[in-house]
Amino acid sequence: MELLPKSLNILVVGSGGREHALLQACLASPLAATVTAAPGNAGMALEAPCHPLDSDDPAAIVALARKLGSNFVIVGPEVPLANGAVDALAAAGITAYGPVRAGALLEASKTHSKAFLERHGIPTARAAKFAATAPALEYLRAHPLPVVIKASGLAAGKGVVIAHDAASAERAVRDMLDARVFGESGAEILIEEFMEGEEASIMLMVCGTRFVMLPPSQDHKRAHDGDTGPNTGGMGAYAPADVVTPEVRQRVVSEIVEPTLRGLAAEGVDYRGTLYVGIMVTAEGPKVVEFNVRFGDPECQVLLPLFETDPVRLMHDCATGDLRPADLRLRDGSAVILTLAAHGYPGSVRKGDPISLPAPEEMPPATQILHSGTKLGPEGTLLTAGGRVLGAVARGKDLHEAVERAYALAAKIHFDGMHYRRDIAARQLNRSRA
Ligand code: AMP
Ligand code: GLY
Repeated sequence: MELLPKSLNILVVGSGGREHALLQACLASPLAATVTAAPGNAGMALEAPCHPLDSDDPAAIVALARKLGSNFVIVGPEVPLANGAVDALAAAGITAYGPVRAGALLEASKTHSKAFLERHGIPTARAAKFAATAPALEYLRAHPLPVVIKASGLAAGKGVVIAHDAASAERAVRDMLDARVFGESGAEILIEEFMEGEEASIMLMVCGTRFVMLPPSQDHKRAHDGDTGPNTGGMGAYAPADVVTPEVRQRVVSEIVEPTLRGLAAEGVDYRGTLYVGIMVTAEGPKVVEFNVRFGDPECQVLLPLFETDPVRLMHDCATGDLRPADLRLRDGSAVILTLAAHGYPGSVRKGDPISLPAPEEMPPATQILHSGTKLGPEGTLLTAGGRVLGAVARGKDLHEAVERAYALAAKIHFDGMHYRRDIAARQLNRSRA
């Protein structure tokens, strides 16, 4: 279907940095007539109308899209996808980007995705699933260390414990299965072999068995420098990530992506949307760590700056079945994002700290500030309102320049308790210097 300029009334669902980046891509798209977001955040509200929305509720999304006359909905986060938002929009005759519920199960249930990977012979860590504590602890006794304990359901990136000793492995099992620290998401757990290697994020825009592969990126999930501290939703990212060499990329396509898309189709899932494959590049080759069914956050924020093709057209083409894989054109250079986190993150977070941002003329070149957990206070002051508060994004002719610019930008942003990692992309920079 040939899309006419200004033919789309777009609704972006979500409120994080990823959705802020998607909103900007929509605002820049020649296809957009109107662009609205829901629920959005303080930064998004400066750029487009934002509507209140319980974004977890598919019926509420449909009602809002109808009210706004939206003819294209981009669903950012995983929870509405897992709840069937795209199925509900399709039933209402509204085109939407993102997989249907049956596809979203690849992220919403780690036991489901592990079984899928095993069924289709796709490389991943060996694992066993448990719903009761005693057999889980019994299994642990014979398992080598370190061992990985995962809550099966959605846990905002925090439901994974890498245990280096028996006591912490046992504690993780009891926390999930007995104390239900992740609620029902921890009613089933996986106990999984630890994979040694370097991680990378591979994002694909998928239309059935056709896809475009976006540049590989690397997230930094641990809270502190040197990959120490607890897991987070993501403390920073860069793209492209060299750890995905052309050879690794080829193996990812033939050993992971193609069998996954063929497997989905064979199981009757018409997958349209982003497929995020978290991989570990091990000595035996790339293996799947996890699937996500939406753009990564913060990885999305470093991929969109590298697009030359209009990402909105690609998303729409995926949604309508028109994707032509040759259509992706990218820019040279690298992009980096630093997550500026609130006091206490990833533990219990303090909210309401006033934020000071640089004036537009003080911004370093090719940089932007994306909002995640922000809100406007009573006098119009910008306040922290979540764990990941802002993203400092920069593009550069190479990774070195992008990193320098991102840190120069972060140095101009202040709020009490603000913390961020000082070593985003350091591994790749050190490798390229060596
Ligand atoms: P997940 O939510 O499954 O992506 O897990 C969160 C993080 O835990 C991953 O990004 C990895 O850094 C780490 N992780 C998960 N599973 C494994 C594994 N089997 N071996 C090593 N690290 C893992
Ligand atoms: N940054 C990791 C994720 O989006 O799941």
